[in-house]
Amino acid sequence: MAAGKGTRMKSALPKVLHRLGGRALLSHVLQRAVELSARQAVVITGHGAEVVEAALAGSPMDLPLQCVRQEPQLGTGHAVQQALPQLQDDGVTLVLSGDVPLTETATLQALLALCDGRQLALLTLALPEPSGYGRIVRAAPGGPVLAIVEHKDASAAERAITEIYSGIMALPTRLLRNWLGRLDNKNAQGEYYLTDIVKFAVADGVSVAAHQITDAAQVAGVNSPVQLAELERSFQLRQAQALMDQGTRLADPARFDLRGRLSCGSDVEIDVNCIFEGEVSLGDGVRVGANCVIANARIEAGALIHPFTHIDGEQLGVQVGAGALVGPFARLRPGAQLGADVHIGNFVEVKNATLGRGAKANHLAYLGDATVGERVNFGAGSITANYDGANKHRTVIEADVHVGSNCVLVAPVTLGAGGTIGGGSTITKDTPVGALSVARGKQVSVANWTRPLKKPKP
Ligand code: UD1
Ligand code: CA
Repeated sequence: MAAGKGTRMKSALPKVLHRLGGRALLSHVLQRAVELSARQAVVITGHGAEVVEAALAGSPMDLPLQCVRQEPQLGTGHAVQQALPQLQDDGVTLVLSGDVPLTETATLQALLALCDGRQLALLTLALPEPSGYGRIVRAAPGGPVLAIVEHKDASAAERAITEIYSGIMALPTRLLRNWLGRLDNKNAQGEYYLTDIVKFAVADGVSVAAHQITDAAQVAGVNSPVQLAELERSFQLRQAQALMDQGTRLADPARFDLRGRLSCGSDVEIDVNCIFEGEVSLGDGVRVGANCVIANARIEAGALIHPFTHIDGEQLGVQVGAGALVGPFARLRPGAQLGADVHIGNFVEVKNATLGRGAKANHLAYLGDATVGERVNFGAGSITANYDGANKHRTVIEADVHVGSNCVLVAPVTLGAGGTIGGGSTITKDTPVGALSVARGKQVSVANWTRPLKKPKP
């Protein structure tokens, strides 16, 4: 179900598209269906349907998926009615909410096992503050479930019940179809309540089982930015714990954010306030300093990423070789490929450039569209001028070249192996192997130069 409005988000974006851990709430829910090997998923859209459907089309999931529209929104029972034409009677239907992202697959497996293809299984929870939720009415404490009564329809005695319906149920589709056909909207909210089917099950002699869990985060919905932030933290903490269980050392699991997938070798250390996005892998012994943002990158064994480094490989990826040193305050952009033992220092930007083993650019430099050989030393303030205003060109710096400070290498240009480029040079032509190349105004000294004197005050 993803048709609700989400008024309290106070956002133009449909609620189920707000992000948790870097992906839409709805995509977390659909991921559960993938993990359960569901035959198909049917998404019920309504508010912002076009936007939700476009988002789903734009990020395909690993299962057959269709959308049905619920317009107008007349309640949860009415919502599921819209999906019926897409459902097959020999199956089991699992009803999930698009705004409840943290249900664990194992919990849903247990619910489906309880349903067993023949009965109605409800996921429930005891809450100290059950106000607002549907209450589980039983014949006696722990006895058979008789009904779910919505808060607004509940008597004082029913409101005292603390066991609530989570919004998640599993049941045979043929029974769902039958019961949905019998719903009415004669209740406090004038809505077609999905929860009314419990009464029909009892009347038809179909048993109703409750799977009661204790972890409230698993059934918590997102209705407001505050709730979204709370669930984000609990999601992040869970991911942090999983990494620590594998041996990764996080300086503070409360200051760790993973918005994608992170794989870590052994003895990896991550300091506070780091954000990982997309696909990132950290090899054995990698250390990441505080306040780094690392996306779509492979960092090989023993590399050291100093604080405040920003790495984003986007589509092309970034690779940092074994034992390399990067940062502080370095920026690695798509296509940066650093070989083993490369050093990239502060305020150095690397884009679409390959650096051979042991190459160094330690201060204030730009290497874009470049091939840099082994052991090259790239001086402070030097840059590749790779863009002529219309096209990008490549700079090739062969092995063992020493580029002095404040040089401009105007691409396309090749610096021959072992050459030295004098500081302050603007290099526009290829330089020979082994030569010292200097391209700047010759130094002139004027002897006995007298500086102008200040005029006396009138
Ligand atoms: C529902 C349950 C209540 C349960 C609670 C758990 C009903 C009648 N009540 O409450 O017993 O304790 O969830 O959170 O089912 N939606 C639609 N179309 C609609 C109405 C809702 O798609 O016409 C979607 C919403 O977007 C949301 C989900 O259904 O994802 C639940 O709706 P919501 O209004 O949050 O739940 P309640 O009806 O208050
Ligand atoms: Ca409602």
